[in-house]
Amino acid sequence: MGNAKAAVFASGTGSNFKAIVESPSLACDIALLVCDQPTAPVIDLARQHGVPVLLVDPRDYPSKAAFETVILQKLADDHVDWIFLAGYMRLIGPVLLNEWEGRIINIHPSLLPAFPGKDGIGDAFRAGVTETGVTIHYVDQGVDTGAIIAQEAVQIFPDDTQDTLKKRIQAVEHRLYPKVIHQLVSRT
Ligand code: GRF
Repeated sequence: MGNAKAAVFASGTGSNFKAIVESPSLACDIALLVCDQPTAPVIDLARQHGVPVLLVDPRDYPSKAAFETVILQKLADDHVDWIFLAGYMRLIGPVLLNEWEGRIINIHPSLLPAFPGKDGIGDAFRAGVTETGVTIHYVDQGVDTGAIIAQEAVQIFPDDTQDTLKKRIQAVEHRLYPKVIHQLVSRT
């Protein structure tokens, strides 16, 4: 039996995409990058790693349902088993969720349920808390509300800037996401 196949959804830099695709022990194949931003650096990263890219710009579709139907079809055509969101800056709508709930995972840079949303790092930094972290969770219809799979804490030091904090959080993300993917995929 071959490896499970996964699609990564990303909108931006792609440092998590890179960590996943370069992991030596993922136990699944990254068969597709789905990207919604035509100028996102993650597209070049995918090409460098020989990962096919589905670039779908929502502005080209009359509705979110139409946009997601194109993605849904591609995932079926490619026999994809898992979706890993890695900086995908868009809510997953009912078209994708109805078919995929339970097989879509997201990574978020805070200890959920604290600091959900677009700027988990900045929000925690500005709140003045001494601890934040990284959460990997199942995706549901809410914003960063799905069942938690794994978390790791990151301390915030008095001399941290948002930038130094971000670097430490991302280092944890790049280690934790491939590890959790390996665990999830290996037990199915
Ligand atoms: C990560 O911090 C991730 O937790 C969040 O978006 C960011 C994506 O960064 N969901 P990158 O594009 O993987 O570098």
